[in-house]
Amino acid sequence: MSLVEASGLVKIFRRPVKDPGFRGALRHLVAPRHRDVTAVDGVDLRIEPGEAVAYVGPNGAGKSTTVKLLAGIIVPTSGDVRVAGLSPHRDRIANARQVGVLFGQRSQLWWDLPVRESFTLLRDMYGVSARDYRTRMERFDAVLGLGEILPVVARKLSLGQRMRADLAAALLHGPRIAYLDEPTIGLDIAVKDRVREFLRQLRDEGTTIMLTTHDLGDIEDVCERLVIIDHGRVIYDGALAAVKDDFARERHIHLQLASAVPLASVAGCLPDARVVAGEGPGEFTVTVDRFRQTAGAVISAVLPLAEVVELRIDEPAIEDVVRKVYAGELRLA
Ligand SMILES: Nc1ncnc2c1ncn2[C@@H]1O[C@H](COP(=O)(O)OP(=O)(O)O)[C@@H](O)[C@H]1O
Ligand SMILES: [Mg+2]
Repeated sequence: MSLVEASGLVKIFRRPVKDPGFRGALRHLVAPRHRDVTAVDGVDLRIEPGEAVAYVGPNGAGKSTTVKLLAGIIVPTSGDVRVAGLSPHRDRIANARQVGVLFGQRSQLWWDLPVRESFTLLRDMYGVSARDYRTRMERFDAVLGLGEILPVVARKLSLGQRMRADLAAALLHGPRIAYLDEPTIGLDIAVKDRVREFLRQLRDEGTTIMLTTHDLGDIEDVCERLVIIDHGRVIYDGALAAVKDDFARERHIHLQLASAVPLASVAGCLPDARVVAGEGPGEFTVTVDRFRQTAGAVISAVLPLAEVVELRIDEPAIEDVVRKVYAGELRLA
């Protein structure tokens, strides 16, 4: 049996449509109108124990709604969902013991309490033994640097501190499965690295992970399987290794040269790349296959023409990956 089994999962939100002002409110009272938003539109998903799955898609695709359905936070409009044999929304309490949930956009810590007190509250709520509490807190400190955060009142934490604390809080009870919705959003590189290292350890210890993120670096570091959702439907589900090369192949490198070199000269130095002119004089965007040409090689190639004043590399965006699925370049497994 799979750990997570969702079939035909649908969530429709009904939102009131109100015209502005008092008359609008009054009219709504007399003849309420609604607009239905289908956030999740027939999702089939199976996750095996120990898998690390990246669940990605553009904004509004239905990722967070899926996570809420799997966590039992909201009730599906139709379809079936089982997590380790339990119905998440019917068996909410039993389900909460086996899952850990993090919403990167919203803290689950008690806002006015020092972080340490949130942890002791969670410990008591979940009945975590003193021994488990100690070992887990030591782990959280070693990888996430939790120790220095514990005395601080939650509302005074920086975003990076808050996310580290929230991540630890979601996992304090040692859940079998972790749903992590945007755990690296807004974090700087150093904190991001810590979080990724933590997630790798979690995965290596056998915790099942469902990771929602906009950051392809997170996915490459942590997950072996990629599920892409768009408009509430799964449009791709397959091994990450099979698509990684494809979607991570192209790199856009933006160059600012010290002088206004003609486009043809730059293109002439880079026969394997696609070169287009940027906005100002001396600005170019070079698209390379990162497996064939590094940013360093691009710089060396144009250096005889002019000094490179500035260089910026665009990471591929989830939106590009989705576009490729629709273009038929990535096939649904
Ligand atoms: N509580 C809600 N009420 C009404 N509409 C919602 C609610 N939550 C989400 N939606 C809508 O459902 C769609 C999917 O949202 P969401 O699951 O948050 O997407 P994602 O996490 O992929 O960005 C969006 O159109 C969003 O506006
Ligand atoms: Mg979301």
